[in-house]
Amino acid sequence: TKMRVRDALRVQDASGECVTVQGWVRSVRAQKEVLFLHVNDGSSLQSLQIVADSSFNCRELTFGSSVQIQGQLVKSQSKRQNVELKAEKIEVIGNCEAKAFPIKYKERHPLEYLRQYPHLRCRTNALGSILRVRSEATAAIHSYFKLLPDDVDFTLDNGFVHIHTPVLTSNDCEGAGELFQVEPSSKIKAPEENFFDVPAFLTVSGQLHLEVMSGERKERLGQIEAFTQVFTFGPTFRAENSQSRRHLAEFYMVEAEMSFVESLQELMQVMEELFKATTETVLSHCPEDVELCHQFIASGQKGRLEHMLKNNFLIISYTEAIEILKQASQNFAFTPKWGVDLQTEHEKYLVRHCGNIPVFVINYPSELKPFYMRENEDGPQHTVAAVDLLVPGVGELFGGSLREDRYHVLEQRLARSGLTEAYQWYLDLRKFGSVPHGGFGMGFERYLQCILGVDNIKDVIPFPRFTHSCLL
Ligand code: 4AD
Ligand code: MG
Repeated sequence: TKMRVRDALRVQDASGECVTVQGWVRSVRAQKEVLFLHVNDGSSLQSLQIVADSSFNCRELTFGSSVQIQGQLVKSQSKRQNVELKAEKIEVIGNCEAKAFPIKYKERHPLEYLRQYPHLRCRTNALGSILRVRSEATAAIHSYFKLLPDDVDFTLDNGFVHIHTPVLTSNDCEGAGELFQVEPSSKIKAPEENFFDVPAFLTVSGQLHLEVMSGERKERLGQIEAFTQVFTFGPTFRAENSQSRRHLAEFYMVEAEMSFVESLQELMQVMEELFKATTETVLSHCPEDVELCHQFIASGQKGRLEHMLKNNFLIISYTEAIEILKQASQNFAFTPKWGVDLQTEHEKYLVRHCGNIPVFVINYPSELKPFYMRENEDGPQHTVAAVDLLVPGVGELFGGSLREDRYHVLEQRLARSGLTEAYQWYLDLRKFGSVPHGGFGMGFERYLQCILGVDNIKDVIPFPRFTHSCLL
């Protein structure tokens, strides 16, 4: 029977069963009598030890070559593993020329170096661990939101319906103009001049489509009741001309939208819970992979993460944030000023100021935020009910808000931005059974950076896309 390395390693009492293992050679050590091999198939951080008779021809068994090994699973003499495979037959499936292979035996390559080889870097421990954590976190996020079957304890059920929001869209949700426009390839004859008749773009956010699904009333959907809580988790695109350590042109966003939400408090509670529940699940499902990152990529990160998990996240207003920053303005390249966006350096300072506990910053000046955010009824300084969560090492991780649910207020806001025509359908939502609602988006790569302590966002996504780079 075929067995994955991870399953073989988990066998408690190996009693000589015959198994076949497939994978890539991680190390070879030939001694007088025996040959030790370590084989990894990506299913776990740990490799399986293979013990063979030294009579095996091991010239082709080089680091990186792919192999299939048949043998008996036996108790290991070594304390480092429970079991090992006593090889009866070793086949090299594909050779790997050590000299040409950019990944070198026993070397700990810096992540920058590995970035040049997106097609090979997943063979290293570091990328293997990061990408297994990424996979586990994806599943954990889905299960956090999930509507559970009837027979499961309903108190565990957060009751969100998953929606596939479109990748191609004709609107710019964030209004920042960071759009990638999509046209058919010039080889294809479009039916008309424009394939879609209107300009189409890669989505910057699924929010507006989520709002449709979370708020649409019976009148518009016939017999179908609208969903009150929805989420999506997919790729989003921004033509941001930025070479920073926290921006990508293609990144994944977790977005949630909830009807009948009247305060930022309710939103912040879900954001904090999502962060903590997902992280706890990841920590319990792949402790070795997280440990590797904490040990070799970001020392001290373990304690920093525990600190984030055990404390209640803090809340300050944008106005308070500006006051705090002004006290320390000698530290910054950009002088903090009310009405101007927070810079990365400001965000990082605020987090440190808050004792490295994640901090929600709420109620931003309305000019800084997109048209859909709900206006606060507060004095002369116009603010909107926006919330960003700032976290250690990364800065902004979540962005969210209450949405403007009042028809006339929204109408005026759209008119001011010259968007009335394009957003008739969005106004309609406020006409047919409008409800107070709100939601948020979390950058998934920034989340991984934050929990693992990975400095550059390009190292937590399998195939990073950014300015001047779209490899593979
Ligand atoms: O703050 P943003 O732009 O918010 C929205 O798009 C809302 N429509 C979300 C919503 O309310 N449904 O983006 C949300 C998060 C940011 O806080 C950040 O973590 C991440 O997405 N993000 C990026 N991550 C990587 N590369 C980029 N270029 C990013 N831009 C935003
Ligand atoms: Mg934002």
